[in-house]
Amino acid sequence: MLEPTIASVQPISHQEEVTVQTNRLLRWWMRHYHHIGLASLAGSAILVCIMAVILLPIVIHNSTKDSEQCVTLITTTMTMSSILIDPLCAANAIWKSQAVTIVGSSDRTNSLSRSYLKDPNDMLIDTNGNLFIADSGNNRVVYLPVNATEGRIVAGRSIRGSLFKYAAATVAWKDQLYVSDLGNYRILAFPLSTTEGSPDGTTIVGHYGVGSALNQIDSVYYMSIDRMRELFYLSDFRNNRILKLNLTDNTLQLAVGTGISGSNNVSLNLPLGITIDETTGSLYVTDSRNHRVQKFNLNSIQGITVAGGTGHGQNLFHLNLPSSVAIDPHGNVYVADSGNHRIVQWLVNAHQGRIIAGTGIAGISNTQLNHPVQLKFDIHHNLYVVDQNNNRIQRFDLQYNGC
Ligand SMILES: *[C@@H]1O[C@H](CO)[C@@H](O)[C@H](O)[C@H]1NC(C)=O
Ligand SMILES: *[C@@H]1O[C@H](CO)[C@@H](O)[C@H](O)[C@H]1NC(C)=O
Ligand SMILES: *[C@@H]1O[C@H](CO)[C@@H](O)[C@H](O)[C@H]1NC(C)=O
Repeated sequence: MLEPTIASVQPISHQEEVTVQTNRLLRWWMRHYHHIGLASLAGSAILVCIMAVILLPIVIHNSTKDSEQCVTLITTTMTMSSILIDPLCAANAIWKSQAVTIVGSSDRTNSLSRSYLKDPNDMLIDTNGNLFIADSGNNRVVYLPVNATEGRIVAGRSIRGSLFKYAAATVAWKDQLYVSDLGNYRILAFPLSTTEGSPDGTTIVGHYGVGSALNQIDSVYYMSIDRMRELFYLSDFRNNRILKLNLTDNTLQLAVGTGISGSNNVSLNLPLGITIDETTGSLYVTDSRNHRVQKFNLNSIQGITVAGGTGHGQNLFHLNLPSSVAIDPHGNVYVADSGNHRIVQWLVNAHQGRIIAGTGIAGISNTQLNHPVQLKFDIHHNLYVVDQNNNRIQRFDLQYNGC
């Protein structure tokens, strides 16, 4: 197994450590990072951090076994952009304040069972409502069929280090499931499957250890694919950049960010979630330490702030360590405002957000979230949230479409 090469890791400042304190996975990573720095990496069971994933459709799959489920999944995801999505008048839309728990529980005692999650970081959802979940703390990816209460492990073995040191992010693309193996600084590809099994992965990025060269990555928490242009993006958190991965020859190119943290319009500071507007190719990046969401038009390296960017705090014009971003068909932005334990909507050109889920106070009731890190909508605009510190996936149903 590839072990991280610690020599090339730059120290992270105390200030950073403090500001990421609301994020359990990041905190965890920081602790281990320092530990690694002191003790050198010999101590094996040291894990690092997180994962990310992105939701992208799964395209064609003329599969042999497993074909029925796969075909359903694929058909649905493939046609996502052509499917008639329910109308949404975003400015007036209302989501139920009480969520339904789709899977998981804040009780972590039995977290290896298939009904529990541990520090989940990412998820994908298809048009039928089936989910792939990066169950990061359990070092596995779980497939959860719609309405099921138990998932199926489709990658990883629930044993830390046997395959993943935190399965951070997942993207489904063609007949592969891509997973960010956070603690090993690599991206693995698995055969896309919806049946229980622990296939071996293939390393597609990460042969050259952790670092900031163009053939290296450092802590990819989230990934995204522009299916229309076949562009695969990786959010390279500690390198303050977004990379483009060519899936034909597995080479990396710089997409946006300079590699050096900063707050001007070409810089990023610890980027997390990314999402693509596939109609325009625009890239939305959650620039966590700048407490903002940046939009990069296709081929532009200059970002435009579409949410936050006014420092951190709890006001409606603030974000606080945002983790992920989603968009609706009109280009309105939805942010997992992790440090504020809420999901906020920023309409196009808005100067402040509107809370659509969560109360702003961390908690475990069905109206509350505790460090939400990822959000997705199904085709009916129901909102799914990875409620990381509560070890669960919550669904806030659309109550009124606003039209
Ligand atoms: C899932 O549950 C919902 C609500 O009970 C139901 O309408 C839907 O048909 C179910 N879907 C499947 C595939 O079982
Ligand atoms: C990806 O790599 C292949 C093989 O090297 C090359 O032919 C293709 O042009 C590359 N694609 C992009 C978008 O650079
Ligand atoms: C980025 O900043 C530069 C320098 O301030 C400015 O000239 C440019 O217009 C900005 N780009 C965008 C897209 O706002």
